[in-house]
Amino acid sequence: MSECTLQQSNNPLSGEILVPGDKSISHRAVIFGSLANGITKITHFLDGEDCMRTVEAFREMGVSIDVHDTTLIIKSKGVKRLVEPDQPLDFGNSGTTTRLMLGILAGLPFFTTIYGDASLSKRPMDRVVNPLRQMGAIIDGRFNGSLLPIAVRGTAIKGINYTLPVKSAQVKSAILLAGLLAEGETKVTEPIPTRNHTENMLKAFGADLTIDGNTITVTNKSDLTGTDVHVPGDISSAAFFLVAGAIVPGSEILLKNVGLNPSRTGIIEVLNRMGAKIQIVTEHSTSGEAFGNVRIAHGSLKGITIEGEIIPRLIDEIPVIALLATQAEGTTVIRNAEELRVKETDRITAIVDVLSTLGADITATEDGLIIKGQTPLKGGKIASYDDHRIAMMGVIASLITDGEVTIDDTSCIAISYPNFFKDLESIS
Ligand code: S3P
Repeated sequence: MSECTLQQSNNPLSGEILVPGDKSISHRAVIFGSLANGITKITHFLDGEDCMRTVEAFREMGVSIDVHDTTLIIKSKGVKRLVEPDQPLDFGNSGTTTRLMLGILAGLPFFTTIYGDASLSKRPMDRVVNPLRQMGAIIDGRFNGSLLPIAVRGTAIKGINYTLPVKSAQVKSAILLAGLLAEGETKVTEPIPTRNHTENMLKAFGADLTIDGNTITVTNKSDLTGTDVHVPGDISSAAFFLVAGAIVPGSEILLKNVGLNPSRTGIIEVLNRMGAKIQIVTEHSTSGEAFGNVRIAHGSLKGITIEGEIIPRLIDEIPVIALLATQAEGTTVIRNAEELRVKETDRITAIVDVLSTLGADITATEDGLIIKGQTPLKGGKIASYDDHRIAMMGVIASLITDGEVTIDDTSCIAISYPNFFKDLESIS
């Protein structure tokens, strides 16, 4: 446990932050580099705890992965040369590692068991286990394979035609990864688009992939080949400082190297619609992923409704968007975000608890939140729920509270942003 007390400061924030590597892209770069034949060099990798779980998993399966700060060198002989891990794999807190690895393990000719921490052990895995079983996978676990620990007896699997019943890039990715090992075609249709990093990386590593509207098709026809991947900064990490810049009076911050893939930029659209002073300064792209520098400054904000197709494009940013909404004039309504109930914690409950303790006018609904602003925030004792994004939201809230904020445990921040406090310090 690392309790953290944050003194009231209310000082303007100013300066630049180089945003750490994107968590979703870092996981995928390790996965694809390990499945591919040859050498993959990954730069600006996120060395947070979640992504290191994925690295450890492939090391256990015989892949050579050297980590030097944020540069990784992966040397692999390809998917056919992976070996059976002789220990159960510990996926810690990482839902992405678990769901994506299930897709791969389903089609590999060996036996694996996987487990995780208390939070991961409560998260639903049937959303990937069910379609994988339709492909012929042999998987068992608690509650008939819905919960970790789970055991996978890898076997010959076949392609399916699957329409996603949940808005989940993890489920889409698990099925597409299984499709790389399956006989025939695997087609995934998503009624509402989710982050498309897996599709971008399938292309970059030379997979046989076609995209037709909302349907993605893969086959096992092409072997993957190692390639270099530069990971853009994580917009989900940048979001904490975008909101900080927007709500702390007098602030102006430049966030450098922010990932700007349109399937992730919902937070920028929300800030624009709320009237924030935000500007994309430069834009480039690498391995099919856009990135650029974003400037944010304090200004007045107005409440809005956030619902529908934008939700998967900002799902991880909702805790900090809720904080933002407490400082907007009028009501902000967030709907269609039921997925928040099955994240690292039930984030709807956690957000309401934390922000109402700090004086916000916020109500939970089944699938979202109603926040009435603008309310001044006060100090108090809050819980992180062992959830990195709730803990960081609490820290950013403390920048505008009247009185100190104590957070029960901030060690979980290392899951996605090991240098969070250092970066905050640098602009304080
Ligand atoms: C992720 C997808 C999202 C997101 C998670 C990372 C990914 O989860 O919340 O932090 O890397 O694919 P779902 O796809 O389950 O919504």
